[in-house]
Amino acid sequence: MARSSRRASTWTISCLSFLLLVLFVSPAVTVKHHDFKRCEQSGFCKRNRALADSITEQGNPESSPYQLDAASIKFTDGRLEGSIIKTVQETGPIKLPLTVAFLDRGNVRVTIDEEKRRKGDIELRHGSIARKERYNEAGAWALTGAGLHAQKAASLKKISKDLTEVSWGRDHEFKALIHHTPFAVEFWSGEDKQVVFNSRGFMNVEHWRPKIDRPAADTNNSEQQVVNPTEDESTWWEETFGGNTDSKPKGPESVAMDIAFPGYGHVYGLAEHAGPLSLKQTRGGDGNYDQPYRMYNSDIFEYELDSPMTLYGSIPFMQAHKKDSTVGVFWLNAAETWVDIVKSTHDANPLTLGLTGGIVDTHTHWMSESGLLDVFVMLGQSPKELAKSYGELTGYTQLPAAFSIGYHQCRWNYVSDEDVKDVDRKFDKFNIPYDVIWLDIEYTDDKQYFTWDPLNFPDPISMEKQLDESERKLVAIIDPHIKNKAGYFVVDEMKSKDLAVKNKENNIFEGWCWPGSSHWIDAFNPAARAWWKTLFTYDRFKGTMHNVWLWNDMNEPSVFNGPEITMPRDNLHHGNWEHRDVHNINGMSFHNATYHALLERKKGEVRRPFVLTRSFYAGSQRTSAMWTGDNQANWEHLVASIPMILNQGVSGFPFAGADVGGFFGNPSKELQTRWYQAGIFYPFFRGHAHIDTRRREPYMLGEPYTSIMTKALRLRYMLLPAWYTVFHEASIDGYPIVRSQYYVHPEDEKGFELDDQFYLGSTGLLAKPVTTEGAESVDIYLSDNENYYDYFDYTMYSGGSKTHRVVAPLDKIPLLMQGGHIIPRKDRPRKSSGLMKWDPYTLVVVLNKNGEAEGTLYTDDGETFDYEQGAFIHRRFTLENGQMKSTDVATKGAKTASYLKTMIDVKVEKIIVVGAPAQWSKLDEVSVTAEGAKGSTSAELIYHGAVGGKAAWAVIRGPGTSIGEDWTISFSPGHDHKSEL
Ligand SMILES: *[C@@H]1O[C@H](CO)[C@@H](O)[C@H](O)[C@H]1NC(C)=O
Ligand SMILES: *[C@@H]1O[C@H](CO)[C@@H](O)[C@H](O)[C@H]1NC(C)=O
Repeated sequence: MARSSRRASTWTISCLSFLLLVLFVSPAVTVKHHDFKRCEQSGFCKRNRALADSITEQGNPESSPYQLDAASIKFTDGRLEGSIIKTVQETGPIKLPLTVAFLDRGNVRVTIDEEKRRKGDIELRHGSIARKERYNEAGAWALTGAGLHAQKAASLKKISKDLTEVSWGRDHEFKALIHHTPFAVEFWSGEDKQVVFNSRGFMNVEHWRPKIDRPAADTNNSEQQVVNPTEDESTWWEETFGGNTDSKPKGPESVAMDIAFPGYGHVYGLAEHAGPLSLKQTRGGDGNYDQPYRMYNSDIFEYELDSPMTLYGSIPFMQAHKKDSTVGVFWLNAAETWVDIVKSTHDANPLTLGLTGGIVDTHTHWMSESGLLDVFVMLGQSPKELAKSYGELTGYTQLPAAFSIGYHQCRWNYVSDEDVKDVDRKFDKFNIPYDVIWLDIEYTDDKQYFTWDPLNFPDPISMEKQLDESERKLVAIIDPHIKNKAGYFVVDEMKSKDLAVKNKENNIFEGWCWPGSSHWIDAFNPAARAWWKTLFTYDRFKGTMHNVWLWNDMNEPSVFNGPEITMPRDNLHHGNWEHRDVHNINGMSFHNATYHALLERKKGEVRRPFVLTRSFYAGSQRTSAMWTGDNQANWEHLVASIPMILNQGVSGFPFAGADVGGFFGNPSKELQTRWYQAGIFYPFFRGHAHIDTRRREPYMLGEPYTSIMTKALRLRYMLLPAWYTVFHEASIDGYPIVRSQYYVHPEDEKGFELDDQFYLGSTGLLAKPVTTEGAESVDIYLSDNENYYDYFDYTMYSGGSKTHRVVAPLDKIPLLMQGGHIIPRKDRPRKSSGLMKWDPYTLVVVLNKNGEAEGTLYTDDGETFDYEQGAFIHRRFTLENGQMKSTDVATKGAKTASYLKTMIDVKVEKIIVVGAPAQWSKLDEVSVTAEGAKGSTSAELIYHGAVGGKAAWAVIRGPGTSIGEDWTISFSPGHDHKSEL
């Protein structure tokens, strides 16, 4: 669950009074705009936009008061250091230390600090004990250390009074031109200027200054305005919103930069927002937003679609894309951040007088409330290279436990252990596969985490044992708010060990959440994380066993009575950092603590933990999965889920899903059925529903819906070997799991705005879910000049910039296979993915126009970390020149041999070749040569000719080869292909 749904639900008396209280505070059914700031209500956003406006109006970007002091520049081992001087009339020059590190792969890191704050040479107001420096630990949380080495080979080409030039990269194909006055940087790749800092002069580092207390009369004294006509001081020292006042002991301290992408017409990323994949302009005008994209992790109740409003998580990573080129920017800042986007068009060649259509430039303006200005520029080339680059910085997605890519059944709430057992039995009765059943907050005793409601969950172990019989799991929710109740051991320990978040007076912070009065664990504190670990051991979290995993919700954090439903910004965390500085990392600090706690539940029992989080930041992909929070049971939310999930992939956190069926409200049977048909393509696939909704487990709907949904679920399960292979790819290359059109066809401009169809990894599977009520067909756009085939009946569609109408009545899932791929499957229906472990494989070979195909399979034990020591199978399959081969692509490790032994009886039981050549009609068998075997054997081939628009196909039955060994199948007549040479 997750919702700060403040609706009354009358089913328990105990929470009624609390709910009534909150209901009284905020009785509404849709997103409450007044709970959340617009740019003009956020002091620093308003100030930075005003600065941008005044510079634009005056047309003088050159007036930017920042200047790089040429004499200060030092360059060693791929790092440039120097001082930027900000000229301020009243106070004299302000020194801003600059570093520019030239990294691998055309990446650069630019950091700008403020000397006075760094030295602690400032005074805080209100006797605050907050840290004086600009927050400089975001990197410690978000970055992994890989990809951060400065390139010693980078060279300082030139340094003059006005310009510094550095080149780097393998062939020095990248260069940075650093202009000194005003400070601006151009990043070039080859002959092209790709990214420019401060070309419009919006750079802003709000330096520390003492508060000058002017007489009250000065508030409307015209003389004061004369002192500094451009600066609006009204939000420097205090800000009030929704009845909460932020004391701002450090005064104004925002950082901002304008970053231009010349020639780039599209930008993507900046998860999490509910809008189109290709980000919109934000400065008003037809069809544009009038607000910047906001990143300030928030518990948004019933969020609205097509909006730049902030949601639960933030990843300040953006890709700019044009035909055949991609570059990126990663803005490493954990404070509230807004990003304005505008596009402008100019002529490619002034002499053609607009006849060529023009070139689009995208200009972005990044603004953060506090912290360092710390930004990575990535000079692409392709979306995939950027994914790899970004993953080297922030880590790749974890290789998840195999069960976690099966189906998850959730609801707020399964009300008792008997209820859970009953649902589990019903899935079996209807032969519907699932892997995980979930418990929302009501399982606890009075909202005290690590306890069970003694009346409704008297025997959780018996429930978990029943699930375990089918290799199924339980996921239970645990949130960061800890009920403030004397005698509750968790809160008592947290208080006595002093591990909670503090308020601005440095006393324990108290606020309201599900349990009523609560305190919040400060997971930024290593001692708090160490203590968190002790809570999960089986002897302390009684009633749990090895198949119980975790859900962290409300970790933005959600504080019902706090400003913008979260913590006051002047709260204090470990190290006396203010909450404002770390806000967007808060959720990650918590789910990471949970992940590590689960790793150490029991000595010797090391398995890949599963943790779902609602709030996230760059780096969250290393230890969790996410979902898009509290969506609604309507068609619009089904539509919106797809670009949101695609964008999670662009943003480096691809293990993502949306609540299938919609969290709030009751979906129609048709909507729910279509949502399952779409949900089987979410990397994280979970059905979930609000407490006020009707039961909607797939078996509840009746026919034909239950059967249609079951068929969809089975398809997900059949394709699990392909999914797992794709997850593995994401875990080593950072590639999205489901990929948008521009990702797969970066050269095809027609696909740059498409965000309703997508590919599953590099399998060639192309899905286009039906998301319209009553629709009987969908239109699928095929970019490349290749043949595509309907997944189910092999109807052929030719590609090459063509759009095809694919018929899709309710029982049909529009799913095509691109020619040229080999897709691994497991076809036997089982109750759960765990029970499929030893099942044989089917390989679906989809020939391309040259009669060739290739694909990969990755598999391992699905639960331990033994794969890190080589306990896995990684095969490449190819079919060319009448031969199909399986070859090893893995490096061997200490545990390879023993793992392969366990897999010796797992065979390939069937090979289906789609688009089989006509001459195969004469074959009735093929010869099979396997690694260990002497000579070759034969396997039966059955050929089906092409009919109507459907491709010919052939089936090879029982080739009998082990999945882990090398083999060759020869399709030429006569037996041994070698003898023919
Ligand atoms: C996650 O937690 C572990 C264990 O406490 C800690 O070592 C690590 O630094 C944390 N990392 C992140 C990104 O939260
Ligand atoms: C400020 O201006 C308003 C309107 O002109 C006036 O009513 C008010 O008295 C002034 N405040 C002070 C403190 O002078």
